[in-house]
Amino acid sequence: MRTIAIMNQKGGVGKTTTSVNLAAALARRGKRVLLIDMDPQAHASLYLGIEPNAGAPSIYDVMTGDESIASVCRKAAERLWVVPSHLDLAGAEVELAGEIGRERILRGKLALEQTAPDGAPYDYRIIDCPPSLGVLTINALTAAEEIIIPLQPHFLALHGLGKLLQTIKLVVTRLDHPTLRLSGVVFCLYDAGTTLAREVSNDIRNFFSEEKERNPRSPWAEAEIYRTKIRRNIRLAEAPSFGQSIFDYDPKSNGADDYADLAAEVDGCKREFASRNKTKSASRPKRATEPASPEKTEPSAGSAADRSGPDGSNVTYFAPNPLSMEID
Ligand SMILES: Nc1ncnc2c1ncn2[C@@H]1O[C@H](COP(=O)(O)OP(=O)(O)OP(=O)(O)O)[C@@H](O)[C@H]1O
Ligand SMILES: [Mg+2]
Repeated sequence: MRTIAIMNQKGGVGKTTTSVNLAAALARRGKRVLLIDMDPQAHASLYLGIEPNAGAPSIYDVMTGDESIASVCRKAAERLWVVPSHLDLAGAEVELAGEIGRERILRGKLALEQTAPDGAPYDYRIIDCPPSLGVLTINALTAAEEIIIPLQPHFLALHGLGKLLQTIKLVVTRLDHPTLRLSGVVFCLYDAGTTLAREVSNDIRNFFSEEKERNPRSPWAEAEIYRTKIRRNIRLAEAPSFGQSIFDYDPKSNGADDYADLAAEVDGCKREFASRNKTKSASRPKRATEPASPEKTEPSAGSAADRSGPDGSNVTYFAPNPLSMEID
């Protein structure tokens, strides 16, 4: 069983969209999946049509009370179960302030339950994190073995990545979780054809490959930049209003296609991933604006590149490079 936290303290980068649709895609691949909504906004729950109901127990009751994961989880689709969230979870940070071992509550509860309500074990547990680095995200990290970071490749997206990696490192060292690993970065809301998106992708790629050489034992030394990029697709933004994953809402959309690809990649099916992509590029008309594949693009020159600002002035888009943070 793999437990994956979908994490980025930056808001609106595609964490929930990725958690829900990756979980749904894995379930469609025949995997048994538990999706845990750790965000008080309860967007993942709402996305799958589960109304955070005042009376029904939620992850809040798991975190602050005696409820078990099994007692609050609900079936959302074939092979897909959800642990819903509730707005009350916003108060958990304060409520748990004096609690000993508050960083490992979720880990403890998950350890008690490896199986779905029907008695068979889960293959995946996916945790949708809130946009913060507080106690809820720390609980997700101590409970998980893997992390996936969704990133929107625009010039502000890189700010905060250093802090995020430092948080991972703190969990590994101070909270004694040496097996925690960053599995990969997935680009979301990707605007194919823009130079900036390509440059930011290349800078991140360069950072991780340099980091691998510099510090082969860091929790992100093996991190992949997933080849699948989740393109901006309006159907992905519409699906939550209907309480449906993209596969139920519009299975023929680019969004469904991209999340199916990502699931194949995460699930480690390289051959299937390659053949899916072959079909994809064969069926997609070539556009003049389409970017070259990452393998074919030249790395951008330097990370602290200057870009033209909205007013035409030169702005430094991430200088000093936030990725050259002090991580020893
Ligand atoms: N690939 C996409 N194409 C179009 N819209 C998208 C895409 N991915 C996400 N969105 C939309 O962007 C918004 C932010 O996405 P999402 O809620 O997944 O981000 P988040 O990181 O979970 O946000 P938060 O930090 O608030 O939890 C949502 O309105 C969502 O529907
Ligand atoms: Mg979210």
